[in-house]
Amino acid sequence: MENSQYKIQGLDLHDVCKRFGTPLYVYDADVIKRQFENFSNAFSGIDHRIMYAVKSCTNLSIMKYMRFLGAGIDTVSIPEIKMGFKVGFKPEEIVFTPNVVEFHEIREAVEFGVPINIENLQNLEAFGKEFKSAYPVCIRLNPNMLSEIESGRATSLDFASINKEHYDEVGEQQVSAWHNQSKFGISLMEFDKVLELVKKYNIRINGLHLHSSHVILDKKVFAKGVKIVFEIAKLFDHLEYVDFGGGIMVKHHPDDIVIELDETGRILKKEYDKFCVSIDKRIKIWFEPGRYLMSEAGCLLTKAVVLKTNGFINFVGTNTGFNHLLRPMMYDAYHEIVNLSNLCGELEKYNIVGNLCEIDNIGTERMLNKVRKDDILMIKNAGAYGFSMSSNYNTRPKPAEVLIINGRAELIRKRENFDDLIRNQIELDF
Ligand SMILES: Cc1ncc(COP(=O)(O)O)c(C=O)c1O
Repeated sequence: MENSQYKIQGLDLHDVCKRFGTPLYVYDADVIKRQFENFSNAFSGIDHRIMYAVKSCTNLSIMKYMRFLGAGIDTVSIPEIKMGFKVGFKPEEIVFTPNVVEFHEIREAVEFGVPINIENLQNLEAFGKEFKSAYPVCIRLNPNMLSEIESGRATSLDFASINKEHYDEVGEQQVSAWHNQSKFGISLMEFDKVLELVKKYNIRINGLHLHSSHVILDKKVFAKGVKIVFEIAKLFDHLEYVDFGGGIMVKHHPDDIVIELDETGRILKKEYDKFCVSIDKRIKIWFEPGRYLMSEAGCLLTKAVVLKTNGFINFVGTNTGFNHLLRPMMYDAYHEIVNLSNLCGELEKYNIVGNLCEIDNIGTERMLNKVRKDDILMIKNAGAYGFSMSSNYNTRPKPAEVLIINGRAELIRKRENFDDLIRNQIELDF
Protein backbone atom coordinates (compact mmCIF):
# COMPACT_ATOMS: atom_id res chain seq x y z
CA MET A 1 0.00 0.00 0.00
CA GLU A 2 1.30 3.45 -0.72
CA ASN A 3 0.75 6.62 1.17
CA SER A 4 -2.06 7.67 -1.11
CA GLN A 5 -4.47 6.41 1.53
CA TYR A 6 -3.77 9.54 3.45
CA LYS A 7 -3.78 11.99 0.65
CA ILE A 8 -5.97 14.96 1.39
CA GLN A 9 -7.58 16.44 -1.71
CA GLY A 10 -4.90 14.71 -3.78
CA LEU A 11 -2.01 16.06 -1.71
CA ASP A 12 0.45 13.65 -0.13
CA LEU A 13 0.91 14.71 3.49
CA HIS A 14 4.63 13.90 3.30
CA ASP A 15 4.98 16.62 0.67
CA VAL A 16 2.97 19.00 2.85
CA CYS A 17 5.35 18.28 5.76
CA LYS A 18 8.39 18.76 3.53
CA ARG A 19 7.06 22.16 2.51
CA PHE A 20 5.91 23.48 5.89
CA GLY A 21 7.85 21.37 8.41
CA THR A 22 6.63 19.55 11.51
CA PRO A 23 4.88 19.64 13.88
CA LEU A 24 2.10 20.91 11.69
CA TYR A 25 -1.64 21.38 12.04
CA VAL A 26 -3.43 20.52 8.81
CA TYR A 27 -7.15 21.19 8.20
CA ASP A 28 -9.22 19.84 5.33
CA ALA A 29 -11.76 22.39 4.05
CA ASP A 30 -13.83 19.63 2.43
CA VAL A 31 -14.36 17.94 5.80
CA ILE A 32 -15.36 21.24 7.42
CA LYS A 33 -17.88 21.74 4.59
CA ARG A 34 -19.19 18.16 4.93
CA GLN A 35 -19.69 18.57 8.66
CA PHE A 36 -21.37 21.94 8.20
CA GLU A 37 -23.76 20.45 5.65
CA ASN A 38 -24.49 17.38 7.82
CA PHE A 39 -25.36 19.65 10.70
CA SER A 40 -27.46 21.93 8.58
CA ASN A 41 -29.35 19.05 6.94
CA ALA A 42 -30.16 17.45 10.30
CA PHE A 43 -32.05 20.59 11.30
CA SER A 44 -33.32 21.52 7.86
CA GLY A 45 -36.97 21.60 8.94
CA ILE A 46 -36.19 24.24 11.53
CA ASP A 47 -35.41 27.91 11.01
CA HIS A 48 -31.91 27.56 12.42
CA ARG A 49 -28.53 29.23 12.44
CA ILE A 50 -25.12 27.66 13.01
CA MET A 51 -22.84 29.88 15.10
CA TYR A 52 -19.37 28.37 14.86
CA ALA A 53 -17.69 28.23 18.31
CA VAL A 54 -14.54 30.17 17.47
CA LYS A 55 -12.66 29.01 20.55
CA SER A 56 -12.38 25.51 19.10
CA CYS A 57 -10.04 26.70 16.34
CA THR A 58 -9.35 30.40 16.52
CA ASN A 59 -7.86 31.17 13.15
CA LEU A 60 -8.94 34.06 10.92
CA SER A 61 -8.97 31.91 7.76
CA ILE A 62 -11.05 29.19 9.40
CA MET A 63 -13.50 31.84 10.64
CA LYS A 64 -13.64 33.32 7.16
CA TYR A 65 -14.32 29.91 5.66
CA MET A 66 -17.15 29.37 8.15
CA ARG A 67 -18.60 32.69 7.00
CA PHE A 68 -18.28 31.55 3.39
CA LEU A 69 -20.26 28.40 4.32
CA GLY A 70 -23.01 30.52 5.88
CA ALA A 71 -22.24 30.27 9.60
CA GLY A 72 -22.30 32.98 12.23
CA ILE A 73 -19.89 32.80 15.17
CA ASP A 74 -20.07 32.12 18.88
CA THR A 75 -17.47 34.15 20.78
CA VAL A 76 -16.38 34.06 24.41
CA SER A 77 -14.07 37.08 24.63
CA ILE A 78 -13.85 40.61 23.23
CA PRO A 79 -10.82 39.75 21.03
CA GLU A 80 -12.84 36.93 19.45
CA ILE A 81 -15.58 39.46 18.61
CA LYS A 82 -12.96 41.77 17.09
CA MET A 83 -11.60 38.88 15.02
CA GLY A 84 -15.14 38.26 13.80
CA PHE A 85 -15.45 41.86 12.60
CA LYS A 86 -12.01 41.63 11.00
CA VAL A 87 -13.14 38.77 8.75
CA GLY A 88 -16.42 40.43 7.83
CA PHE A 89 -19.06 39.16 10.24
CA LYS A 90 -21.80 41.69 11.00
CA PRO A 91 -22.74 42.29 14.66
CA GLU A 92 -25.98 40.32 14.29
CA GLU A 93 -23.98 37.31 13.03
CA ILE A 94 -21.96 37.13 16.25
CA VAL A 95 -23.11 35.92 19.65
CA PHE A 96 -21.15 36.73 22.81
CA THR A 97 -21.40 33.83 25.28
CA PRO A 98 -18.81 34.48 27.97
CA ASN A 99 -18.55 32.75 31.32
CA VAL A 100 -18.15 34.61 34.64
CA VAL A 101 -16.80 37.80 33.06
CA GLU A 102 -16.56 41.28 34.53
CA PHE A 103 -19.44 43.48 33.50
CA HIS A 104 -17.27 45.85 31.46
CA GLU A 105 -16.90 43.07 28.83
CA ILE A 106 -20.66 42.84 28.51
CA ARG A 107 -20.86 46.64 28.22
CA GLU A 108 -18.25 46.50 25.45
CA ALA A 109 -20.26 43.85 23.61
CA VAL A 110 -23.31 46.12 23.82
CA GLU A 111 -21.24 48.90 22.24
CA PHE A 112 -20.35 46.48 19.43
CA GLY A 113 -24.05 45.72 18.99
CA VAL A 114 -23.73 41.92 19.16
CA PRO A 115 -26.31 39.57 20.71
CA ILE A 116 -25.33 38.80 24.30
CA ASN A 117 -25.83 35.76 26.42
CA ILE A 118 -25.84 36.30 30.20
CA GLU A 119 -25.27 33.34 32.48
CA ASN A 120 -25.38 34.67 36.03
CA LEU A 121 -27.75 36.75 38.13
CA GLN A 122 -25.09 39.27 39.11
CA ASN A 123 -24.49 40.36 35.52
CA LEU A 124 -28.19 40.15 34.68
CA GLU A 125 -28.93 42.61 37.48
CA ALA A 126 -26.09 44.93 36.37
CA PHE A 127 -27.41 44.68 32.81
CA GLY A 128 -30.95 45.53 33.92
CA LYS A 129 -29.77 48.54 35.93
CA GLU A 130 -27.72 49.92 33.06
CA PHE A 131 -29.73 49.09 29.94
CA LYS A 132 -33.27 48.37 31.14
CA SER A 133 -35.27 47.52 28.01
CA ALA A 134 -32.96 49.43 25.64
CA TYR A 135 -30.90 46.35 24.61
CA PRO A 136 -32.32 42.83 24.32
CA VAL A 137 -30.49 39.99 25.98
CA CYS A 138 -30.40 36.19 26.03
CA ILE A 139 -30.08 34.18 29.26
CA ARG A 140 -28.27 30.91 29.64
CA LEU A 141 -30.09 28.34 31.73
CA ASN A 142 -28.71 25.43 33.65
CA PRO A 143 -31.68 23.09 33.43
CA ASN A 144 -30.65 20.91 36.39
CA MET A 145 -30.87 17.89 34.19
CA LEU A 146 -28.85 15.00 35.37
CA SER A 147 -28.02 12.27 33.02
CA GLU A 148 -26.16 9.09 33.64
CA ILE A 149 -25.37 7.95 30.21
CA GLU A 150 -23.06 5.12 31.17
CA SER A 151 -25.62 3.32 33.28
CA GLY A 152 -28.31 4.09 30.76
CA ARG A 153 -30.28 5.97 33.38
CA ALA A 154 -31.53 9.43 32.69
CA THR A 155 -33.24 11.71 35.12
CA SER A 156 -34.39 15.22 34.70
CA LEU A 157 -35.99 17.45 37.22
CA ASP A 158 -39.31 18.84 36.24
CA PHE A 159 -39.39 22.58 35.82
CA ALA A 160 -42.57 22.81 37.83
CA SER A 161 -41.29 20.71 40.70
CA ILE A 162 -37.86 22.17 41.17
CA ASN A 163 -36.96 23.01 44.70
CA LYS A 164 -33.89 22.78 46.83
CA GLU A 165 -34.97 19.63 48.68
CA HIS A 166 -35.49 17.77 45.44
CA TYR A 167 -32.06 18.84 44.23
CA ASP A 168 -30.42 17.64 47.43
CA GLU A 169 -32.20 14.31 47.16
CA VAL A 170 -30.66 13.30 43.85
CA GLY A 171 -27.33 12.58 45.47
CA GLU A 172 -23.73 13.25 44.73
CA GLN A 173 -23.25 10.64 42.05
CA GLN A 174 -25.85 12.11 39.75
CA VAL A 175 -24.81 15.65 40.46
CA SER A 176 -21.31 14.75 39.37
CA ALA A 177 -22.70 13.61 36.01
CA TRP A 178 -23.66 17.22 35.40
CA HIS A 179 -20.47 18.39 37.07
CA ASN A 180 -18.75 19.69 33.96
CA GLN A 181 -21.61 22.00 33.31
CA SER A 182 -22.38 22.96 36.87
CA LYS A 183 -20.71 26.39 36.88
CA PHE A 184 -22.50 27.43 33.70
CA GLY A 185 -25.83 29.09 33.34
CA ILE A 186 -28.48 30.28 35.75
CA SER A 187 -29.83 27.38 37.71
CA LEU A 188 -33.53 26.79 37.30
CA MET A 189 -33.65 26.75 41.07
CA GLU A 190 -33.01 30.49 40.85
CA PHE A 191 -35.40 31.07 38.01
CA ASP A 192 -37.84 33.04 40.15
CA LYS A 193 -35.03 35.57 40.66
CA VAL A 194 -34.65 35.92 36.88
CA LEU A 195 -38.32 36.76 36.64
CA GLU A 196 -38.00 39.28 39.47
CA LEU A 197 -35.09 41.04 37.75
CA VAL A 198 -36.84 41.03 34.38
CA LYS A 199 -39.88 42.67 35.97
CA LYS A 200 -37.91 45.09 38.14
CA TYR A 201 -35.79 46.50 35.30
CA ASN A 202 -38.10 45.76 32.39
CA ILE A 203 -35.34 43.65 30.76
CA ARG A 204 -36.15 42.50 27.24
CA ILE A 205 -35.29 38.78 27.06
CA ASN A 206 -35.01 37.89 23.37
CA GLY A 207 -33.20 34.55 23.69
CA LEU A 208 -32.86 31.48 25.87
CA HIS A 209 -29.74 29.36 25.86
CA LEU A 210 -29.25 25.74 26.86
CA HIS A 211 -25.84 24.24 26.16
CA SER A 212 -26.53 20.79 24.74
CA SER A 213 -23.28 19.20 25.93
CA HIS A 214 -23.34 15.48 26.67
CA VAL A 215 -27.02 15.75 27.63
CA ILE A 216 -27.82 15.68 23.95
CA LEU A 217 -26.42 12.14 23.86
CA ASP A 218 -29.43 10.83 25.65
CA LYS A 219 -32.55 11.21 23.57
CA LYS A 220 -34.93 11.14 26.52
CA VAL A 221 -32.99 13.71 28.50
CA PHE A 222 -32.58 15.95 25.47
CA ALA A 223 -36.29 15.72 24.65
CA LYS A 224 -37.12 16.64 28.22
CA GLY A 225 -34.65 19.54 28.17
CA VAL A 226 -36.16 20.86 24.94
CA LYS A 227 -39.65 20.70 26.44
CA ILE A 228 -38.49 22.55 29.55
CA VAL A 229 -36.85 25.29 27.51
CA PHE A 230 -39.91 25.80 25.32
CA GLU A 231 -42.12 25.84 28.41
CA ILE A 232 -39.94 28.60 29.87
CA ALA A 233 -39.78 30.37 26.52
CA LYS A 234 -43.53 30.99 26.67
CA LEU A 235 -42.89 33.33 29.60
CA PHE A 236 -41.03 35.85 27.43
CA ASP A 237 -43.03 37.94 24.98
CA HIS A 238 -39.99 39.29 23.11
CA LEU A 239 -38.40 35.93 22.44
CA GLU A 240 -36.68 35.70 19.04
CA TYR A 241 -34.44 32.65 19.40
CA VAL A 242 -33.53 29.63 21.47
CA ASP A 243 -29.85 28.72 21.44
CA PHE A 244 -28.95 25.07 22.05
CA GLY A 245 -25.23 25.80 22.36
CA GLY A 246 -22.60 23.28 21.40
CA GLY A 247 -20.95 20.18 22.81
CA ILE A 248 -22.03 17.87 20.02
CA MET A 249 -19.46 15.08 20.00
CA VAL A 250 -17.82 13.23 17.16
CA LYS A 251 -16.18 9.82 17.42
CA HIS A 252 -12.58 9.83 18.59
CA HIS A 253 -12.49 6.16 19.54
CA PRO A 254 -14.44 3.41 17.73
CA ASP A 255 -16.35 2.70 20.97
CA ASP A 256 -17.40 6.32 21.55
CA ILE A 257 -21.12 6.93 21.75
CA VAL A 258 -22.20 9.86 19.60
CA ILE A 259 -25.63 11.14 18.77
CA GLU A 260 -27.63 10.50 15.68
CA LEU A 261 -27.93 14.10 14.59
CA ASP A 262 -30.90 13.44 12.31
CA GLU A 263 -32.78 11.86 15.21
CA THR A 264 -31.97 14.87 17.39
CA GLY A 265 -33.26 17.10 14.60
CA ARG A 266 -36.55 15.16 14.56
CA ILE A 267 -36.96 15.42 18.35
CA LEU A 268 -36.30 19.13 18.23
CA LYS A 269 -38.55 19.78 15.24
CA LYS A 270 -41.53 18.14 16.90
CA GLU A 271 -41.29 20.40 19.96
CA TYR A 272 -40.30 23.43 17.89
CA ASP A 273 -43.35 23.16 15.64
CA LYS A 274 -45.66 22.77 18.63
CA PHE A 275 -44.07 25.75 20.31
CA CYS A 276 -44.28 28.01 17.26
CA VAL A 277 -47.98 27.17 16.84
CA SER A 278 -48.61 27.84 20.53
CA ILE A 279 -47.10 31.35 20.39
CA ASP A 280 -48.24 32.02 16.83
CA LYS A 281 -44.73 33.09 15.82
CA ARG A 282 -41.72 31.37 14.26
CA ILE A 283 -38.63 31.83 16.36
CA LYS A 284 -35.09 30.93 15.33
CA ILE A 285 -33.01 28.09 16.73
CA TRP A 286 -29.29 28.67 17.12
CA PHE A 287 -26.50 26.17 17.68
CA GLU A 288 -22.88 26.79 18.63
CA PRO A 289 -20.91 23.75 17.45
CA GLY A 290 -17.13 23.86 17.48
CA ARG A 291 -15.94 20.29 17.83
CA TYR A 292 -18.55 18.90 15.41
CA LEU A 293 -17.37 21.17 12.62
CA MET A 294 -13.63 21.11 13.27
CA SER A 295 -12.49 17.98 15.12
CA GLU A 296 -12.35 15.51 12.22
CA ALA A 297 -11.23 18.20 9.79
CA GLY A 298 -7.87 18.62 11.49
CA CYS A 299 -4.83 16.56 12.36
CA LEU A 300 -1.49 17.24 13.96
CA LEU A 301 1.44 15.86 11.96
CA THR A 302 4.54 15.12 13.96
CA LYS A 303 7.87 13.41 13.39
CA ALA A 304 9.14 10.38 15.29
CA VAL A 305 12.49 11.68 16.52
CA VAL A 306 13.65 9.26 19.21
CA LEU A 307 12.88 5.55 19.61
CA LYS A 308 13.70 4.02 22.97
CA THR A 309 12.66 1.31 25.37
CA ASN A 310 12.77 0.92 29.14
CA GLY A 311 12.73 -2.85 28.79
CA PHE A 312 8.94 -3.09 29.05
CA ILE A 313 7.57 -0.29 26.94
CA ASN A 314 8.66 0.84 23.52
CA PHE A 315 8.50 4.61 23.30
CA VAL A 316 8.14 6.76 20.21
CA GLY A 317 9.42 10.22 21.09
CA THR A 318 7.92 12.91 18.86
CA ASN A 319 8.71 16.54 18.13
CA THR A 320 5.42 17.69 19.68
CA GLY A 321 3.78 17.39 23.10
CA PHE A 322 1.01 18.72 25.29
CA ASN A 323 2.21 22.24 24.55
CA HIS A 324 0.72 21.65 21.08
CA LEU A 325 -2.10 19.20 21.81
CA LEU A 326 -3.29 19.36 25.38
CA ARG A 327 -6.31 17.07 25.18
CA PRO A 328 -4.67 13.69 25.88
CA MET A 329 -3.01 14.94 29.06
CA MET A 330 -5.80 17.28 30.18
CA TYR A 331 -8.87 15.16 29.48
CA ASP A 332 -7.33 11.75 28.95
CA ALA A 333 -8.72 12.17 25.44
CA TYR A 334 -8.16 9.44 22.88
CA HIS A 335 -6.71 10.54 19.53
CA GLU A 336 -6.10 7.88 16.91
CA ILE A 337 -2.47 7.88 15.74
CA VAL A 338 -1.37 6.59 12.35
CA ASN A 339 2.14 6.05 11.04
CA LEU A 340 1.79 7.68 7.62
CA SER A 341 5.28 6.62 6.58
CA ASN A 342 4.85 2.85 6.93
CA LEU A 343 1.21 2.00 6.30
CA CYS A 344 1.97 -1.66 5.56
CA GLY A 345 4.53 -2.20 8.33
CA GLU A 346 4.12 -4.87 10.95
CA LEU A 347 2.00 -3.82 13.94
CA GLU A 348 3.88 -3.14 17.17
CA LYS A 349 2.86 -1.77 20.53
CA TYR A 350 4.12 1.69 21.54
CA ASN A 351 3.65 4.55 23.90
CA ILE A 352 3.74 7.71 21.81
CA VAL A 353 5.12 10.53 23.89
CA GLY A 354 5.83 14.23 23.61
CA ASN A 355 9.12 16.00 24.25
CA LEU A 356 8.19 18.10 27.28
CA CYS A 357 9.98 17.57 30.55
CA GLU A 358 6.86 16.17 32.18
CA ILE A 359 4.78 13.05 31.76
CA ASP A 360 3.68 13.78 28.24
CA ASN A 361 1.66 10.92 26.82
CA ILE A 362 -0.03 11.38 23.49
CA GLY A 363 -1.19 7.77 23.22
CA THR A 364 -0.33 4.74 25.35
CA GLU A 365 -0.32 1.04 24.41
CA ARG A 366 -1.09 1.79 20.78
CA MET A 367 -0.66 -0.68 17.96
CA LEU A 368 1.08 1.19 15.16
CA ASN A 369 2.76 0.06 11.97
CA LYS A 370 6.42 -0.24 12.85
CA VAL A 371 7.80 3.21 13.58
CA ARG A 372 11.24 4.21 12.31
CA LYS A 373 13.17 7.39 13.08
CA ASP A 374 11.82 10.33 11.01
CA ASP A 375 8.50 8.65 10.20
CA ILE A 376 5.56 11.03 10.06
CA LEU A 377 2.76 10.31 12.53
CA MET A 378 -0.73 11.67 12.11
CA ILE A 379 -2.64 12.50 15.29
CA LYS A 380 -6.27 12.55 14.25
CA ASN A 381 -9.27 14.56 15.47
CA ALA A 382 -7.04 17.47 16.35
CA GLY A 383 -8.93 20.22 14.51
CA ALA A 384 -10.90 21.35 17.55
CA TYR A 385 -9.23 22.47 20.78
CA GLY A 386 -5.84 21.57 19.31
CA PHE A 387 -3.97 24.68 18.27
CA SER A 388 -6.33 26.95 20.20
CA MET A 389 -5.29 25.36 23.51
CA SER A 390 -1.59 25.27 22.68
CA SER A 391 1.10 27.03 24.68
CA ASN A 392 4.79 27.85 24.66
CA TYR A 393 5.58 25.64 27.65
CA ASN A 394 9.27 24.60 27.69
CA THR A 395 9.88 27.65 25.48
CA ARG A 396 8.98 25.83 22.32
CA PRO A 397 7.37 27.58 19.38
CA LYS A 398 3.80 26.78 18.36
CA PRO A 399 3.33 24.83 15.10
CA ALA A 400 2.28 26.28 11.77
CA GLU A 401 -1.29 25.76 10.50
CA VAL A 402 -2.22 24.81 6.96
CA LEU A 403 -5.65 24.71 5.31
CA ILE A 404 -6.06 22.38 2.36
CA ILE A 405 -8.62 23.96 0.09
CA ASN A 406 -9.39 23.52 -3.60
CA GLY A 407 -6.57 20.99 -3.80
CA ARG A 408 -3.96 23.43 -2.51
CA ALA A 409 -2.16 23.60 0.82
CA GLU A 410 -2.35 27.17 2.10
CA LEU A 411 -0.40 28.42 5.10
CA ILE A 412 -2.86 30.06 7.52
CA ARG A 413 -0.51 30.59 10.45
CA LYS A 414 3.26 30.85 10.39
CA ARG A 415 5.37 28.67 12.63
CA GLU A 416 6.62 30.68 15.59
CA ASN A 417 10.31 31.50 15.87
CA PHE A 418 12.68 32.55 18.64
CA ASP A 419 11.71 36.23 18.34
CA ASP A 420 8.03 35.34 18.82
CA LEU A 421 8.90 33.50 22.02
CA ILE A 422 10.61 36.47 23.67
CA ARG A 423 8.60 39.27 22.00
CA ASN A 424 6.81 40.53 25.12
CA GLN A 425 9.51 39.86 27.66
CA ILE A 426 11.38 42.74 29.24
CA GLU A 427 15.02 42.17 30.08
CA LEU A 428 16.10 44.20 33.10
CA ASP A 429 19.64 45.49 33.57
CA PHE A 430 21.40 44.45 36.76
C1 LIG B 1 -21.67 27.98 25.42
C2 LIG B 1 -20.85 27.11 24.57
N1 LIG B 1 -21.09 27.10 23.24
C3 LIG B 1 -20.38 26.32 22.41
C4 LIG B 1 -19.36 25.52 22.88
C5 LIG B 1 -18.62 24.67 21.89
O1 LIG B 1 -18.64 23.36 22.26
P1 LIG B 1 -18.18 22.22 21.23
O2 LIG B 1 -16.93 22.68 20.59
O3 LIG B 1 -17.98 21.03 22.09
O4 LIG B 1 -19.29 22.07 20.24
C6 LIG B 1 -19.07 25.49 24.25
C7 LIG B 1 -18.01 24.62 24.76
O5 LIG B 1 -17.76 24.39 25.87
C8 LIG B 1 -19.84 26.30 25.12
O6 LIG B 1 -19.63 26.31 26.43
